[in-house]
Amino acid sequence: MKAPLHRHGGLPQGDGMTATTSSRNVTPLIAAASRDSLVLTVAAKRTVSHGVCELALSDPAGRLLPDWTPGSHIDVILPAGRVRQYSLCGDRWDPFVYRVAVLREPHGRGGSAYVHDELRVGDRVPIGGPRNNFALVPAQRYLFIAGGIGITPLLPMIEQTAGSTDAWSLVYAGRSRATMAFLDRLDRYGEHVSVWTDDCTGRGELDAVMNGLSADTTVYCCGPAGLLEAVEQRSLGWPAGRLRTERFVPTASAAPMRDTAFDVELARSPLTVTVHPGIGVLDALQAAGVTVLASCRRGVCGTCEIPVVDGIPDHRDSLLSDEERARNNCMFPCVSRSCSDRLVVDL
Ligand code: FES
Repeated sequence: MKAPLHRHGGLPQGDGMTATTSSRNVTPLIAAASRDSLVLTVAAKRTVSHGVCELALSDPAGRLLPDWTPGSHIDVILPAGRVRQYSLCGDRWDPFVYRVAVLREPHGRGGSAYVHDELRVGDRVPIGGPRNNFALVPAQRYLFIAGGIGITPLLPMIEQTAGSTDAWSLVYAGRSRATMAFLDRLDRYGEHVSVWTDDCTGRGELDAVMNGLSADTTVYCCGPAGLLEAVEQRSLGWPAGRLRTERFVPTASAAPMRDTAFDVELARSPLTVTVHPGIGVLDALQAAGVTVLASCRRGVCGTCEIPVVDGIPDHRDSLLSDEERARNNCMFPCVSRSCSDRLVVDL
């Protein structure tokens, strides 16, 4: 289920596809975003289905935005230090606009409610990224499986795929057509698209869909945890990389490899930070005054990724594949630790 760099991102859970960080971190977060010149303006806002609104974000001075690829997401930094990840779901070739869709989460932590109820056209929004944890890799055939708002990262993938091949299909499941965003953008694909709803078409059989796949089909899935688990169960034994999921719920990880302190040396400053048992690397770095953009703090969003120059990280994230872990050239300090006495990171 693991994808290559960039790996998989995550989605519907909490406030859509989101995670928070504490308010004490908002100043460095905004500073970090500002350094990348990514303080964007809400250029447009519209409802795209029941409970889902779409934001169009553009540079206030009309400058080009950093390029992105299908599967990418951005961090949207909201007041009170709330950081949310949203998949880019607009036209990948429009260099002036990022589009994201936000599901209102009635039981969320306030981020989606803020976007729906308070964020206005003309407001400025600091942005982190874009980054891609869920890249579209070359394959002979594709099956895309979306649940609800999980359609958002898959839309640009589908639009890119459909431009070059007919060997793809989409299963898009939701409670009702009224709640499912972007059905209009999918109309033109005809029989490539199967829409499963509780109130109209009924749920098709996941077993039938997955059992009938040819071995050269790569499956991309994004949606609620239950859907991801159902798809993962049906792909047990598949070759690595054939199933690619976007996940915002961390996978379980074993106990840390060491229970003693280790040093994190910064390659671009004279600083060395000692990380004691029970303290996270990210927390230790931030306590020492080092700014590292972070969001989920659970090893699922990819925001805090830092390059590793030397040493062996104890990877505890839900993003890297086994191959990527073996390279020991990056880590996610919100959850990962160290196997070696010393790590040198490119900060
Ligand atoms: Fe999300 Fe570290 S903050 S992976």
